[in-house]
Amino acid sequence: MGRVALVTGGSRGIGEAISKKLQADGYTVAATYAGNDEAAAKFTEATGIKTYKWNVADYESSAAGIAQVEADLGPIEVVVANAGITRDAPFHKMKPEQWKEVIDTNLTGVFNTVHPVWPGMRERKFGRVIVISSINGQKGQFAQVNYAATKAGDLGIVKSLAQEGARAGITANAVCPGYIGTEMVMAVPEKVRESIIGQIPAGRLGEPDEIARCVAFLASDDSGFINGSTISANGAQFFV
Ligand code: CAA
Ligand code: NAP
Repeated sequence: MGRVALVTGGSRGIGEAISKKLQADGYTVAATYAGNDEAAAKFTEATGIKTYKWNVADYESSAAGIAQVEADLGPIEVVVANAGITRDAPFHKMKPEQWKEVIDTNLTGVFNTVHPVWPGMRERKFGRVIVISSINGQKGQFAQVNYAATKAGDLGIVKSLAQEGARAGITANAVCPGYIGTEMVMAVPEKVRESIIGQIPAGRLGEPDEIARCVAFLASDDSGFINGSTISANGAQFFV
């Protein structure tokens, strides 16, 4: 049995590609989701990867879910905090609920996902923490004050965790995808989406597999001295 990898939001979109890539690389993968039972069931049927349902925004549910995964599969050595949502609106129209939902899921959700696995990683002197941030956390985005704040915050989390984990053999890194062809991007009105694609020098959306390969590298033994870093994969749309 390979190392155990947990992928939050691992049943659809970018997370689905990450789960499949890690499975192909020999990991025993657990994928979580929030509520789309049908997509999760299809994913498990196609891949054999076990899925678990909990809300990453809730600490108690995350801790209980993680304990269940470890009881079923063994200690989690690779954690990919991928679950995320958008609630876009220009700032003057953004409702406090839209701010809160995104903060709770994309930022607090990362705390809730990593905090329960961190003590075990420290004890075992090995761990890989990979957070899926975004190009929009690097550059900001019209109508995404909430989302950009969380994705920039995710970069602060990995830079701090990297310093705390380095002596214990734990690395923490981020991947900042550009616009990738998943349901999240397909939810953007078509005309707006077309204009976004026009701003990507590569002339296309990225593919989930292109992000999954970055994650697989950061999870591997080859990346042990890469810690607190960000891999940007955005088709040349933005340079840090
Ligand atoms: N820059 C400058 N002005 C813009 C703009 C932009 N990017 N987008 C819209 N505007 C302008 C509009 O032209 C409009 O101007 P007027 O009032 O002069 O006509 C004004 O802002 C208000 O626009 P709307 O009335 O259309 O605003 P709305 O309340 O209907 O909201 C929207 C529409 C939510 C902003 C919609 O345009 C949208 O979804 N935009 C895309 C936002 C985006 O890129 N989200 C990323 C989602 S994918 C993701 O998040 C993954 C990832 O990490 C990359
Ligand atoms: P997606 O297709 O909408 O899939 C989201 C996944 O996250 C689903 O499995 C969903 O579960 C799960 N999820 C959402 N909220 C959750 C919660 N509260 N608790 C547990 N699971 C939850 O999204 P995606 O495009 O693959 O995005 C994945 C990550 O990449 C997100 O963090 C996103 O911000 C980031 N990202 C995406 C892009 C892009 O262009 N697509 C670019 C940069 C960064 P259900 O299936 O149950 O809904």
